Amino acid sequence: MKWSVRSLVSACLLASTLVAAAPQDRTTEQGEAQITDPNEECTPYSYAPVSNAKSSFPAVWPPLNESATIVPNDNEAMSMFQALNSSIPNIAPHGTQPGSIEGNFTGNNYTAADPDCWWTWAHCDTPKYPGLEPDLTRVPEPDTFGYGFDDGPNCSHNAFYDFLAENNQKATMFFIGSNVMDWPLEAQRAIADGHQVCVHTWSHRYMTSLTNEQAFAEFYYTIKALKLVLGVTPTCWRPPYGDVDDRIRYIAKSFNLSTIVWEYDSNDWRAGTGNITDADVDANYEDLITAAQNGTFSTEGTIMLTHELNNFTMSEAVKFYDQLKGAFKHLVPIAVALNDTNPYAESNYTMPTFEQYTSGTTTTGSSGSSSGSSGGSGSSGGAAHSSWSTLAAALAGAAAVLSALV
Ligand SMILES: *[C@@H]1O[C@H](CO)[C@@H](O)[C@H](O)[C@H]1NC(C)=O
Ligand SMILES: *[C@@H]1O[C@H](CO)[C@@H](O)[C@H](O)[C@H]1NC(C)=O
Ligand SMILES: *[C@@H]1O[C@H](CO)[C@@H](O)[C@H](O)[C@H]1NC(C)=O
Ligand SMILES: *[C@@H]1O[C@H](CO)[C@@H](O)[C@H](O)[C@H]1NC(C)=O
Ligand SMILES: *[C@@H]1O[C@H](CO)[C@@H](O)[C@H](O)[C@H]1NC(C)=O
Ligand SMILES: *[C@@H]1O[C@H](CO)[C@@H](O)[C@H](O)[C@H]1NC(C)=O
Ligand SMILES: *[C@@H]1O[C@H](CO)[C@@H](O)[C@H](O)[C@H]1NC(C)=O
Ligand SMILES: *[C@@H]1O[C@H](CO)[C@@H](O)[C@H](O)[C@H]1NC(C)=O
Ligand SMILES: *[C@@H]1O[C@H](CO)[C@@H](O)[C@H](O)[C@H]1NC(C)=O
Ligand SMILES: *[C@@H]1O[C@H](CO)[C@@H](O)[C@H](O)[C@H]1NC(C)=O
Ligand SMILES: *[C@@H]1O[C@H](CO)[C@@H](O)[C@H](O)[C@H]1NC(C)=O
Repeated sequence: MKWSVRSLVSACLLASTLVAAAPQDRTTEQGEAQITDPNEECTPYSYAPVSNAKSSFPAVWPPLNESATIVPNDNEAMSMFQALNSSIPNIAPHGTQPGSIEGNFTGNNYTAADPDCWWTWAHCDTPKYPGLEPDLTRVPEPDTFGYGFDDGPNCSHNAFYDFLAENNQKATMFFIGSNVMDWPLEAQRAIADGHQVCVHTWSHRYMTSLTNEQAFAEFYYTIKALKLVLGVTPTCWRPPYGDVDDRIRYIAKSFNLSTIVWEYDSNDWRAGTGNITDADVDANYEDLITAAQNGTFSTEGTIMLTHELNNFTMSEAVKFYDQLKGAFKHLVPIAVALNDTNPYAESNYTMPTFEQYTSGTTTTGSSGSSSGSSGGSGSSGGAAHSSWSTLAAALAGAAAVLSALV
């Protein structure tokens, strides 16, 4: 074969274009984890296991006046619900949907006796209905911060997860079912990076405002989505807005989910709404840091509500990370603070004990070892690996073009 100068030049131009605009691999967790442009991260993609299963799930992010409900002809869900329904405590829903983020409790005539242990009423965390466990608001290990984030997976969370990986820091991620369906590869990154995953419902409604069937569906389909996408079945959940009562705790318990709320609220999720400013959120972090420094947690650790919701909430977490690490003795995922080494129904995914984690073994079992992208040792080697494989893919593309020309 003879090469003309012209075809060589155009092949090189083509090759360099390919290198410059190498299409990202948006079919694997590792590929998706390498995207750094938030706009690109938040461009929807299709993932076959999810698109093939869409019809067996409720609408992803249903309209505000709706929630998850049992999908028509889902006999498995319906028979599980019917077996459960008659035993659910007879407690009326509180408030109505749709609500604003402050909820809609217009006309609410709940009584001061707080018979339903309704958290939104007076932060009750010790159920009155027999057989229900207290909510977790703190962690038992002294000087320890149970580190966790709500509302993920955020489509643009790579910068935040990269930061956590660089610090070999694991956390508890409370994932929303609708976000898992939209961003399955981002959800997978949590497991690959060795984080713990808990349920944060399908559509982030005030759970106590829902009927038994709606509340059941909010749990059922989130658990089903997590099993489909991550291969694990969590044993913990956090109520959106903390809105839980004994009726909802009972339904959660039927799914083997323990209820995790918080002691402190950073209010990061409210910044820019109502009277909450960015400076208020800074002050909430700073107060927690002061409290950790002055011995407030010397007999028992704590939990603060923080979010993977948007760039601001993630940036605040990054901004205060070093100070939190300095003020507390330990920042650990909530399962680790509880020595819960089996945080999923599946026994083949494990988390380290508190002792193991705090002496440097931050992942055990499958969790954290299933991906070469950024899990495991959590070193910045992940980033180097990332750009190499992106480059390698681009070069392979260029080589294919050249051989086609020959
Ligand atoms: C929610 O609102 C939409 C339009 O605003 C309407 O079509 C739908 O029927 C409503 N759903 C319920 C359950 O009322
Ligand atoms: C579930 O039980 C409640 C009473 O506790 C009842 O009002 C409701 O109709 C039942 N739901 C279904 C779908 O059977
Ligand atoms: C709030 O709830 C009240 C009482 O159920 C209802 O009349 C009102 O329309 C609701 N407001 C909104 C914004 O949904
Ligand atoms: C108010 O109390 C009455 C009587 O106890 C009850 O029937 C009604 O459902 C309650 N209304 C609300 C909005 O909770
Ligand atoms: C809850 O855990 C028990 C004991 O491990 C198990 O038998 C049951 O099937 C679990 N329930 C659900 C809904 O997974
Ligand atoms: C915001 O307003 C509410 C009442 O509307 C008040 O309870 C709260 O303290 C205010 N928060 C701040 C940070 O000013
Ligand atoms: C410790 O700091 C917190 C937060 O600023 C404060 O509320 C608390 O009173 C302080 N406690 C002591 C013993 O100084
Ligand atoms: C993720 O964060 C970005 C940047 O703040 C925001 O625009 C987006 O709505 C969030 N998406 C999800 C799914 O949470
Ligand atoms: C927030 O957005 C800026 C600008 O896009 C980006 O550089 C930064 O990495 C983002 N931070 C987080 C934690 O997502
Ligand atoms: C976790 O295990 C360690 C070592 O056995 C023990 O000292 C600690 O009290 C346990 N913590 C909890 C919360 O169970
Ligand atoms: C863990 O076990 C489940 C079955 O319980 C299986 O589907 C999954 O592939 C296993 N995962 C690993 C990483 O071995």
